[in-house]
Amino acid sequence: MGPRIVILPGDGIGPEITAAARELLDRLGSFEYEEHLIGGASIDAHGTALTDEVLIACRTSDAVLLAAVGGPKWDAAVAEDRAAPRPEQGLLGLRKGLGLFANLRPVRPSHALLDASPLKRERIEGTDLLVVRELTGGIYFGVSGRDGDTAHDDCAYSVAEIERIARVGFRSARTGDTSVDKANVLETSRLWRETVTRIHEAEFSNVPLDHLLVDNAAMQLVSRPADFDVILTENLFGDILSDEAAMLTGSLGMLPSASLGASGAGLFEPVHGSAPDIAGTGRANPLAMFGSVALMLRHGLGMESAATGVESAIDRALEDGLRTADLGGEATTEEATRAVLANL
Ligand code: NAD
Ligand code: IPM
Ligand code: MN
Repeated sequence: MGPRIVILPGDGIGPEITAAARELLDRLGSFEYEEHLIGGASIDAHGTALTDEVLIACRTSDAVLLAAVGGPKWDAAVAEDRAAPRPEQGLLGLRKGLGLFANLRPVRPSHALLDASPLKRERIEGTDLLVVRELTGGIYFGVSGRDGDTAHDDCAYSVAEIERIARVGFRSARTGDTSVDKANVLETSRLWRETVTRIHEAEFSNVPLDHLLVDNAAMQLVSRPADFDVILTENLFGDILSDEAAMLTGSLGMLPSASLGASGAGLFEPVHGSAPDIAGTGRANPLAMFGSVALMLRHGLGMESAATGVESAIDRALEDGLRTADLGGEATTEEATRAVLANL
């Protein structure tokens, strides 16, 4: 028996790109699959976005491959009744429940797509950066609530939470780290900057380190993206900056991610969501999902050569002219899958 992979198709285009990922995996080795519901699909079946059974299955697996959760149907239910379950709680519960504090989002525009980005080729050429996003703290997991006509979402970070993600950021550096915060306004950001600076001085003083305020970072990311190596940042800023960075690759449908903890199974998922606007049309771009399969092979299953094989096959298929609708072409999910498999 091969490694045990828990597959969570989720909602929207999730099941379509998951089916494509399984075809890809079947060509790469022998894996034991276990498929479960998460997000809106799990709410419909069990009344909750993540059941204990699924969390335990993930915990005892070798790796988890997730597509996407969420959609207008469940947003509408929450608009009706604020206490209704939300699909996103499934994903957040999984990240927290598996202790996946480090989210790696590599942004490496494929050569063939340099003209597919809304940014000029000469700006993005040479871009090869990694967003290292803190994933289990900050405003996503703080106390939140309503009091009359007021709502609040608290943002908290402990020194220990910042230290461990800072170490991931420094260990990932090739040419240097840019730590992104909002230290001119937020106390959590001042603790972030102080802690990152201390870990840098004590343990990684050989790695060049810069600090940028997040508003400035958002601007620099499109004006000089090739100058960044590692972008080290907290949960919410990492969420926003990574969708922005996705456009350097031509489409949000291109960007993969890996979520890792101190030990145990990692979670591998595209950066994009469930794309309800195109769900069911057979036109979703499966390449972010394939890139996530590559990250699972590399970081989750120790299969480096299979991982580079997938990444090269994606690049070659794009060189051959593969373009899904989000990249201005007409290829369907199925045609894109064939094109990548043909290049393995
Ligand atoms: P989205 O990422 O789903 O879609 C944004 C735009 O990008 C849409 O126009 C969509 O069609 C397009 N797009 C995204 N992925 C694509 C792909 N693979 N191929 C072609 N086009 C693609 O973001 P949204 O519309 O803001 O959110 C929709 C739902 O997804 C929400 O419920 C949100 O909470 C959820 N979401 C889930 C995840 C996740 O599960 N990891 C991530 C982001 C958003
Ligand atoms: C992502 C998504 C999630 C996040 C949502 C769906 C909870 O946008 O993975 O980037 O905000 O982390
Ligand atoms: Mn996001």
